[in-house]
Amino acid sequence: MAEINKEDVVAVLNRILESELAGVVRYTHYSFLVFGFGRIPIRSWLREQADESLLHAQQVGEWITTLGAYPSLAIGPLLDSHTFDIASILRESLQAENVALALYRELLALVEDRSVALEEFARQMIHVEEMHAGEVDKMLRRPGEMTTSAERLASPP
Ligand SMILES: [Fe+2]
Repeated sequence: MAEINKEDVVAVLNRILESELAGVVRYTHYSFLVFGFGRIPIRSWLREQADESLLHAQQVGEWITTLGAYPSLAIGPLLDSHTFDIASILRESLQAENVALALYRELLALVEDRSVALEEFARQMIHVEEMHAGEVDKMLRRPGEMTTSAERLASPP
């Protein structure tokens, strides 16, 4: 089994760490801004996402030190769009989640057939993040709407 290129792997892991930490801040921030009838369940959902991002950041940070490298203290880009509209919040979250997903795919490409544990971790995270993106996509659909928002954007009516 070929060795991993530690420098490249740590670079991607640090970008993932920064992006997950940005997720913690973003979801927490948005959870304060939910007003209206849906406030209670949506606020809890956003807080759960913040907790999940923190868990992911912690797992990634542990991997970085396991590899004998230094974890980044930086945080990924945060966009304050000053939005209070749930659909915009969800769309912005979906965009950020897709960025994270692409980073986990980058990680998988770097560790595939080189490290069983890191490959397993990358696949597991891709699974979790894809399910999450699918869930957000469903939240963005109107009742009865079967096409995904990605499909809708690709071929507008
Ligand atoms: Fe995540």
